[in-house]
Amino acid sequence: MAEQADSLRRWVHQKADDVTSEVLAGRLKGPHVLAISSGKGGVGKSNLALNLALALQSRGVPTAVLDADLGLANINIILGQEPDYTVFDVMQGDRHLADVMVPGPLGVLIIPGASGMAAAAAADLDQVQTLMAEFQSLESRVEWLVVDTGAGIAPAVLAFVAAADEALVVTTPEPTALADAYGLIRAVDDTMSPVRLHLVVNRASDAGRGQRTGERLADLVARALDRSVAVAGVVLEDPAVARAVVRQEPFYLGSPKSGARADVDRLADYLLDRVPAPRRGGIAGFVRRVMSAVPRARADDSREDTGLPAQNQENHRGVANDAAGAAPVPAGASVGPRAAEAPSSVTPGEGERR
Ligand SMILES: Nc1ncnc2c1ncn2[C@@H]1O[C@H](COP(=O)(O)OP(=O)(O)OP(=O)(O)O)[C@@H](O)[C@H]1O
Ligand SMILES: [Mg+2]
Repeated sequence: MAEQADSLRRWVHQKADDVTSEVLAGRLKGPHVLAISSGKGGVGKSNLALNLALALQSRGVPTAVLDADLGLANINIILGQEPDYTVFDVMQGDRHLADVMVPGPLGVLIIPGASGMAAAAAADLDQVQTLMAEFQSLESRVEWLVVDTGAGIAPAVLAFVAAADEALVVTTPEPTALADAYGLIRAVDDTMSPVRLHLVVNRASDAGRGQRTGERLADLVARALDRSVAVAGVVLEDPAVARAVVRQEPFYLGSPKSGARADVDRLADYLLDRVPAPRRGGIAGFVRRVMSAVPRARADDSREDTGLPAQNQENHRGVANDAAGAAPVPAGASVGPRAAEAPSSVTPGEGERR
């Protein structure tokens, strides 16, 4: 077994080659890497990641989905798949990425990643190179890599968002979700990453109100953080989504006439029309940034310290309180001047609640 792993590793390193160095040097553009993230959990990230990938694929744009949630392997559950291997096996040099990827509907490639990402903490340089080389094989196969991340501002989540070209920050119109979305954006801003941020308001009761809610949050971010966040779109509350989860068939295919599908189609058009060419080294660049950030973050975690500036740790606790069902104190409420504004300004006011 060890011998097999060794020869696989050698093979991979020979292949860690010209395409990767060309992409990293910026001579080739490489695919777009899009992180789907949220401050609050359960707001619809995994469903959006998968169905958006299907919308891109159905437009003739080859797409892969990386399940990078450190908790549950969400994408596979939504699809009713039980993958045999994950990115962990690739990192160990035991499997090629091609053997780990599961073909999804319409030819979307699904990459089970959860346990592999958690193990990234212990990765050595050799393993980082192995992963980069393996992911490089995707460089010529897909145009978009959609990354379903966990919720919140844990360092391992931030590592994925900060490493991406684009991030969709998903929120619902609820004040707690909006405040946590603001907390996530602020934490990303603190990383100084050039990732471009876009907002999606999911489960809105009405398109216009959802849009206004998104714009209010974007305004707050512009004023408080001096950072521009575009409202990418709104997805309406739609019973087809929950139905699809139960049936383990994505609503994009199972309910082709649903409002949710139309909204996701609009989001895909937004991405294809409005997002500029990526310039951060494609997938290999993304993997390299994640792998160099995750071990640091994990080491910091083990010292019971998030490794982030103090104000972020406060904010992190806010999110945790909220998740634990404490009084709905918005994540940013106790966090110092930059976030103090979040709760009242973001709360929808005349907005979503009828
Ligand atoms: N537009 C929608 N309309 C109706 N229900 C929705 C919608 N979007 C999501 N849901 C419901 O929310 C549930 C959670 O969605 P999903 O698993 O995609 O969230 P998540 O953000 O990935 O969660 P986690 O943070 O746990 O990974 C779905 O199972 C579905 O019931
Ligand atoms: Mg999820």
